Amino acid sequence: MNKIPFDEMFQLALAIRQNAYAPFSKFSVGACILTDSGRFYTGCNVENTSFPLGQCAETNAIGTMVCHGERKIAAAVIIADCEPLISPCGGCRQQLAEFSDPDTMIYLCNPQGRHQLYKMAELLPYSFKFDRK
Ligand code: THU
Repeated sequence: MNKIPFDEMFQLALAIRQNAYAPFSKFSVGACILTDSGRFYTGCNVENTSFPLGQCAETNAIGTMVCHGERKIAAAVIIADCEPLISPCGGCRQQLAEFSDPDTMIYLCNPQGRHQLYKMAELLPYSFKFDRK
């Protein structure tokens, strides 16, 4: 993908973040994925009274992407209101890596638009893989 439509992805992630269900942590997260076909998939975090059942924003965006028959992430935007900028959890890094290349662009943002850009391999070097023999 040549030009990543960051502004559009940022607005989509900001909008879905409004739907976050985070009564326990009060920490709302929004994510927007761009696939190699040019489509967008979004997700927010969804917590549960039974805490371990909570789902991250990235997990939900990836699940929606796969449910729509897509498997290749070209870029992702993740937004939360924190300082320093959100650092995606380890599980989400592995989930993103499953459908990314080492060069896939991951933008970590705050709601005001401040952001830092990382490649997938910077966020998760030496990710788990195995040969399906
Ligand atoms: N969370 C995400 O949605 N993505 C991350 O990468 C880190 C954490 C959510 C999970 C939980 O609902 C809240 O943020 C606080 O941990």
